[in-house]
Amino acid sequence: MNASTVSNMPTKEKILEIKEKFDVNVIFAQRLLAMVEQHNQFDEIANIIKNRPKPFVKWVGGKRQLLKQFRKMDLYPPHDFDPIHNTYYEPFAGGGAVFFDLLPKKAVLSDLNKELVVTYNVIKNNIDELITSLKKHRYEKEYFLKVRAKNMNKLSDLEIASRFIFLNRTCFNGMYRVNSKGQFNVPFGKYNNPTICDEDNLRKVSKALQDVKINVEDYKKVLNKVQKGDFIYFDPPYYPVSKTASFTSYTKEGFLDKEQIELRNTFLELHKRGCFVMLSNSDTPFINKIYKEIENEGVKINKVRAGRAINSNGSKRGKINEVLITNY
Ligand SMILES: C[S@@+](CC[C@H](N)C(=O)[O-])C[C@H]1O[C@@H](n2cnc3c(N)ncnc32)[C@H](O)[C@@H]1O
Repeated sequence: MNASTVSNMPTKEKILEIKEKFDVNVIFAQRLLAMVEQHNQFDEIANIIKNRPKPFVKWVGGKRQLLKQFRKMDLYPPHDFDPIHNTYYEPFAGGGAVFFDLLPKKAVLSDLNKELVVTYNVIKNNIDELITSLKKHRYEKEYFLKVRAKNMNKLSDLEIASRFIFLNRTCFNGMYRVNSKGQFNVPFGKYNNPTICDEDNLRKVSKALQDVKINVEDYKKVLNKVQKGDFIYFDPPYYPVSKTASFTSYTKEGFLDKEQIELRNTFLELHKRGCFVMLSNSDTPFINKIYKEIENEGVKINKVRAGRAINSNGSKRGKINEVLITNY
C-alpha cells in the first residue's frame, strides 16, 4: 500500500491501519480519519499526532505507560462506546493520561484536588496570563520554599495555577502530598534545568480543554450525571500492596477498605445503568476479593503488569501487578 494515501480502502480497514501505523486507540483513529478524509493524507495524520497535547503535570500513578498495554489486551477503549453521542468521564483525573490519549469530543473531568482542578481551568480559560506568570519563576531552593509556604486561600486562581505547575516541576519526584492542614509539603527536587513553562504543550492542552468540563468534586457525583452508553474510567488511589508500602494520600482523606468498597458499589451501579466502566487498582487479595463478589454480574478482573515508581525507597521500585476491572 502507498504510505501516504488512505483513499481506496474500506473505512474499517483504514481505521485499523491508522491505529497500527500511529499506535493510537481506535476512537482517536476514527477522529483522525474524519479529520483528514477529504485530503487522504497519512502525512497530515502524522502532523496531527506530533501536535497532540500530553499531560501537563507529573502525577504519581500516571497511566501513560500502561495505555499501550490496555490497548494490546483489547481492553481499551470499549468497542461499543460511541464517542459522537456519548460522554467520557474521568472522575479521578489526576494528570488525565487517559483523557489525553482518548481526546474525546465530549468529556467531563473531575478530581478532589482543588489546586489541580483550578489549574486545569486556568489553562483552559486564561492561558496567556498563565504563561507570562510561569516564565517569571526561578529554579532555586530558597525561592521554591518561599512559593511553597504561600497560603493557597489568599491566592487568585491564576496564582494557584502558576504555583501548582511550578511546584510540580521542581519538587522531589513531581509528587503531590499535603500535611494535615492541607499545606503542600514535598521537598525541593534536584534536576538539571527543569522545564517550568512548557509553553507549546500548555497551549495545546488549552485547546484540547475548550469543550471539557472540569470540576472539583467527589467521584460519586458522576452518578448524578451519566447516561446509558457513557464511558467512565476510575483510577482511584490504589489499595496499598503492603502495610509499609502505602503511598501516602493525594488528598487529606485516605482511601482504604471502606472507600474501596464504596467505589466498587459505584462501579456496579454504573454497570447496571448500562455505562461502560473501566477501573485500575493494585493486584491485591482485598481488591480481587471485592470485585470477585460482582463477577457474576458480568464484571471482569484483568491482570496487567506495570512498571511504576510508588515507593520512595528506590530499591523497591519496579514491576508490580495491577488489575484492570471492566464490565465489557
Ligand atoms: C491514581 S491518581 C489518578 C492518576 C491519573 N489517572 C493520571 O494518569 O495521572 C488518583 C487521583 O484521585 C484523586 N482523588 C482522591 N480521592 C478522590 C475522591 N474521593 N474523588 C475524586 N478524586 C479523588 C486524587 O486527587 C488523585 O488525583
